[in-house]
Amino acid sequence: MENRIIDGNEKVEDLFEKNIRPQSLEEYIGQKEIKDNLKVFIKAALMREEPLDHVLLYGPPGLGKTTLAHIIANELGSNIKTASGPSIEKTGDLAAILSTLEPGDVLFIDEIHRMPKFIEEVLYPAMEDFEIDLVIGETGKSRNIKIDLPPFTLVGATTRAGDISSPLRDRFGIISKLEYYQKEELKNIIKRTSRVFEMPIAEEAAEELSGRCRKTPRIANRLFKRVRDFALVEGNSTITKELTLKSLERLKVDTFGLDSIDIEYLTSLITKFNGGPVGIETISTSIGEEVSTIEDVVEPFLLQEGFIKRTPRGRVATEKAYDHLKISPIESLF
Ligand SMILES: Nc1ncnc2c1ncn2[C@@H]1O[C@H](COP(=O)(O)OP(=O)(O)OP(=O)(O)O)[C@@H](O)[C@H]1O
Ligand SMILES: [Mg+2]
Repeated sequence: MENRIIDGNEKVEDLFEKNIRPQSLEEYIGQKEIKDNLKVFIKAALMREEPLDHVLLYGPPGLGKTTLAHIIANELGSNIKTASGPSIEKTGDLAAILSTLEPGDVLFIDEIHRMPKFIEEVLYPAMEDFEIDLVIGETGKSRNIKIDLPPFTLVGATTRAGDISSPLRDRFGIISKLEYYQKEELKNIIKRTSRVFEMPIAEEAAEELSGRCRKTPRIANRLFKRVRDFALVEGNSTITKELTLKSLERLKVDTFGLDSIDIEYLTSLITKFNGGPVGIETISTSIGEEVSTIEDVVEPFLLQEGFIKRTPRGRVATEKAYDHLKISPIESLF
């Protein structure tokens, strides 16, 4: 998984990319419905001088949840404090974060589905009534204290909406699902990145990249950077289509944007398990990738593009998968 260019997950190099992150809704490309709604809700909150309702953002990795959380804070003219679900281990951790909030702040909790259940319960009154109930002291001598919080907006992000308990989900007033991006939008994202990096890209090259990035901005930007490396080394001052094609071949990204792990997944499903149905654990063992990686990163795109289907009895390869791998369904029986 380490060097997977097509992996939607955030990597260290992405952390240095603050400059390619759009800062306002205006600059944020695509996700029109979400943007239009947020514009109204943010404007109304500002007019009422009340905090924006809590927002839950969900969708596959790399589609712009973290970016959007920061934009929401910017548009509100608020500060943002960030935390991540797995790093909040004790109620005290959450209380410490909450106690730093100033009126109107945005609290961004990434991977909110990984927050322990007993911590969620502390969050409920914080979200509803801006107060927390804490138990302090040892058993026997413990007492409850109530702490008032300033009004704030919680923005939660998750790649797995299904893993969020319904009491938590119900406390978000705004729930938005991020969609995979259209080709045209990705092209615009690539062109924007090219301007930020001051590395011109030919129209046909941007077109090519936009079709190979799994409809995901993070991957579009990552592919752009790799092609830019090839351009630099080859002494090209612009990214041409020819260079792009050559780079994509070197990077083993195929015409659908599938990489070696996707191909391994599909090949295994078809040749070892007869096209399915087969359980995810079985595939996981067969290709040596973790179940969570397969569920969060590999499968969402394969499902969305119609290479596989999910059935109650497991995953099934579609005709499109057979076609793409150039295997006939009959052949795979032998
Ligand atoms: N709508 C967009 N317009 C322009 N660039 C975008 C957009 N969405 C995302 N990006 C770019 O893609 C990169 C990944 O976005 P981001 O980190 O917000 O994704 P994420 O959904 O939070 O992913 P994860 O689930 O892994 O946390 C960002 O660095 C940003 O530059
Ligand atoms: Mg993120």
